Amino acid sequence: MPDTDNQSGMNLADTIANAMRHASAKLIRVTADIRNNNLELTVEDNGHGFDMGNVIQNIRSGYGIASIRERAMICGGRAELTTGPGKGTTVFAQLPLKNRRKNCD
Ligand SMILES: Nc1ncnc2c1ncn2[C@@H]1O[C@H](COP(=O)(O)OP(=O)(O)OP(=O)(O)O)[C@@H](O)[C@H]1O
Ligand SMILES: [Mg+2]
Repeated sequence: MPDTDNQSGMNLADTIANAMRHASAKLIRVTADIRNNNLELTVEDNGHGFDMGNVIQNIRSGYGIASIRERAMICGGRAELTTGPGKGTTVFAQLPLKNRRKNCD
C-alpha cells in the first residue's frame, strides 16, 4: 500500500525491506546525517544489484522504487538510486528539515 498520510520523502522502511528481500546482501548500511538543514538518508547494500531498465518496464506506479524520487520531490528534496547487476544498490535521499511541507515528517 502506498503511504498516503506520510510521504516521508523516501520510505526508509520500504528501502530497507527491498535490500533485505531482494539483494541477498551480506551488509546493509543505513546512515542518517544532518547537513545544511537537510536530512540525508542513505541505504546501501552489497547485494547483487539489478538492472533498472528491466525493472522500470514492469513497475506498478506509486509503489517502491518507482516513487522514491517523486516522494522526495514532493517533500522539497531529492533522491537517487544507484545500482547495476553485481554492483549492489545505494539509495540516497536529501530532505529539507526547515519549512517542511505537510505530510513530510
Ligand atoms: N536493494 C535491491 N537489491 C536488488 N534488487 C532490488 C533492490 N531493490 C529493488 N530491487 C528490484 O526492484 C524491484 C522493484 O522494487 P519495488 O520496491 O518497486 O517492488 P517490490 O519490492 O518487488 O514490491 P513492493 O515494494 O511493492 O513490496 C524488486 O522486485 C527487485 O527486483
Ligand atoms: Mg519493495
